[in-house]
Amino acid sequence: MQLLLKNIHHLVQIEENKPAKWIAGKDMATLSIIENAYLLLEDGLIADFGKMENCPTDAREVLDVCGKMVFPCWCDSHTHLVFAATREQEFRDRIQGLTYQEIAERGGGILNSARRLQESSEEELLQSTWERLQEIKSFGTGAVEIKSGYGLTFESELKILRVVQKLKKTSDLTIKATFLGAHAIPLKYKDNRKGYVDLVVEKMLPTIAEEDLADYIDVFCEKVAFTVAETERIMEAGAKLGLRAKIHTNQFNSMGGIEASVAHNALSVDHLEVLNDAEIAALQNSKTMPTLLPSAPFFINDEHYPPARKMLQAGLPLALATDYNPGSTPSGNMPFVLSLACIKMRMLPEEAINAATINGAYAMELQKELGSICRGKKANIFITKPIDSISRIPYSFGSNLVEEVIIGGKNKS
Ligand code: NIG
Ligand code: FE
Repeated sequence: MQLLLKNIHHLVQIEENKPAKWIAGKDMATLSIIENAYLLLEDGLIADFGKMENCPTDAREVLDVCGKMVFPCWCDSHTHLVFAATREQEFRDRIQGLTYQEIAERGGGILNSARRLQESSEEELLQSTWERLQEIKSFGTGAVEIKSGYGLTFESELKILRVVQKLKKTSDLTIKATFLGAHAIPLKYKDNRKGYVDLVVEKMLPTIAEEDLADYIDVFCEKVAFTVAETERIMEAGAKLGLRAKIHTNQFNSMGGIEASVAHNALSVDHLEVLNDAEIAALQNSKTMPTLLPSAPFFINDEHYPPARKMLQAGLPLALATDYNPGSTPSGNMPFVLSLACIKMRMLPEEAINAATINGAYAMELQKELGSICRGKKANIFITKPIDSISRIPYSFGSNLVEEVIIGGKNKS
């Protein structure tokens, strides 16, 4: 099956040669673009691209996208897409003065979501998550990581991961699953933290590994959640079963989560709203992708955003993701994340696009198959509405300029 896109105003994020591992530091300000281009998709893959003057003339199906741009789909490397209920009451409580952490300490927050999820059937969760997948696809997302973490019991954590496993088979999006049993200490274990970590490590994890239900392991390393020592124990247990870590850390406090994650060769450290110079240094020369989630501080109205400019100056790569979840970010809108990255963290549009494509792919170990327009990569692309500059995407905050999404070379699914 062939599909030829012609008269592309800008073909964005092309890689002529070998796919990059990631893009870091000052290189993030550069984006490779072909103006007035064609793109040939064949059997679900990117077959060829170039200037219009070299456009093939014998393609079977042709789409004239005159005036529009073509991008590789966003790679959203951090979401909690499986949840049972929204949390508007906490939204109202924050408007009236409570903080996100105070709500969590009162047994709201994650524990609130866990109660609702435990009451939901696998079928209900499958349906609501399917709808969220369609929603994020409409914003241009073609690959997504989905975490458990609202189960907090053996049965319910497995229930979430089974939903993700089914979605991997039925959805056209590329999906990675992460086990986040250590998201919060359940009330039942309030005075027995070790008992809960034992349950995660000794009971949940072996079953999940045996049934091949997860690609990665995550821990919420934070004062309101798990300590560094507990995080290390869980990362080590995961590593023994072949699960690399993607760690929630430095959302509110610097407490050693970065250093521990780097030492355990974590694939990513995510949030980083609070980050000091020593932690930036610890990330240098590591294989760990710093992943920023600016819609979380936006939604909970926290004044701290990750120090993106400082991190780029230090030569680090950055990824951007939505963190779609019912508590801190009820949104899977990647273009809006790019807007926040530019407005609140002073990232250039080019830097934000690199962070949301190739670097997001790295944070899911998908950089060889997704994240750029490169021959042989999967044909997951989106076509914009007619626009004149790539900056229009973050500039038009709240709008969806994605007109059509093509996954695996197919534009009608
Ligand atoms: O990444 N911070 C930890 N976990 C989620 C939010 C969880 C919730 O509030 O439900 C996050 O922001
Ligand atoms: Fe998260």
